Amino acid sequence: MNTSVPVAILGPTGYTGLELLELLANHPRMHAAYLASARPEPIDITREFPRLCDRLDSTTPALTKPIDHDAIARACKLAFLCLPHDAAIAHTPPLLDRGVKVVDLSAAYRIKDPATYHSAYAHHHTDLNNLAHAIYGLPELNRAAIRSAMLVANPGCYPTAAALALAPFIRAGLIEPGTIVINAASGVSGAGREPKPHTTLVEAGDNFSTYALGTHRHEPEIEQTLASITPAGSGAPGVLFLPHLLPIERGILETITAVPSATAQSMDQQALTNVLSEAYRSEPFVVVRSDAPTLRDVQRTNRVHLSVKLLPAKGPRPSRLIIVAAIDNLTKGASGQALQNANLMLGLDEHLGLR
Ligand SMILES: NC(=O)c1ccc[n+]([C@@H]2O[C@H](COP(=O)([O-])OP(=O)(O)OC[C@H]3O[C@@H](n4cnc5c(N)ncnc54)[C@H](OP(=O)(O)O)[C@@H]3O)[C@@H](O)[C@H]2O)c1
Repeated sequence: MNTSVPVAILGPTGYTGLELLELLANHPRMHAAYLASARPEPIDITREFPRLCDRLDSTTPALTKPIDHDAIARACKLAFLCLPHDAAIAHTPPLLDRGVKVVDLSAAYRIKDPATYHSAYAHHHTDLNNLAHAIYGLPELNRAAIRSAMLVANPGCYPTAAALALAPFIRAGLIEPGTIVINAASGVSGAGREPKPHTTLVEAGDNFSTYALGTHRHEPEIEQTLASITPAGSGAPGVLFLPHLLPIERGILETITAVPSATAQSMDQQALTNVLSEAYRSEPFVVVRSDAPTLRDVQRTNRVHLSVKLLPAKGPRPSRLIIVAAIDNLTKGASGQALQNANLMLGLDEHLGLR
């Protein structure tokens, strides 16, 4: 008999919470059994998000309840934390202590070095025990460890696209250390639902801007992932991360440049594309293309689309690898990947609810 696994969403009133509710509504083996909010009064989730009014099935409660760890543990096997990082650190230990598996969508458990976490997030980590055993939830790089994890740190949206684009080339030693530049642009939903001055329609609409140039919190996360797969003896990859805000709701496009190694310079276009297609041959959510992807190809899907091109040297400019990656920040960059991880942690088929 195919039973459905009850799960909780902490923070169902935000964008990643809404995305999870929509994905779970189509999941044959998992359902949202507990919607946990810190607001003082219960919220009717279909009033909060009228688009859900005819989408939720009978197993999903209409009203939110308080974040009560005992009640969540009685009702659910796994909890998705769609919360700010400090709130995620407050709720993860009591849930794990009660035997509830956790997929944390915040950055709280992604960066292993507490000092790096503190300098990126201006927040002292107070749960070093769980930080030490949290598994970084990028299934394409880390599937076996995710299957047996109690706590998965769901990757950031920009880092998901960057790591999947660069990992095959880093592993094969095809990129010169210290030469990676990630030009990235995200839709406004990447900043969350809480209003901020730079994400209003007047500021962000019909506009295009940089932000946090070289200081973005996702830069150390990308560097940590790439360092973890760099062959021994090679220099640390090092990245320069240049984020931009796009005047659209959702989607991330990254145009990544790097100086190719001598081996990569001797490869033809097809051989470079094969580096990506062979690395991701069995991956259900990675599409390797000969042309550069666009956001429209991936919006509202859990897929990453990737392409690579080698530009030969021209005059004083050395040759460059140009890798383009496109994802939906709320799906593969957040809630879709969280569901992919939860499927693995619960022993379910990895693509359930995601196609
Ligand atoms: N947006 C993205 O594309 C994206 C991608 C990857 C990862 N993430 C990460 O995922 C997490 C959620 O992001 P989001 O975009 O969904 O944010 P959001 O739209 O701002 O939603 C945040 C949610 O957390 C709740 N909340 C805020 N402070 C809380 C507290 N102290 N205690 C309990 N609940 C609290 C909010 O409840 P109220 O509605 O009551 O305020 C809301 O439900 C963040 O850590 C974010 O960095 C987001």
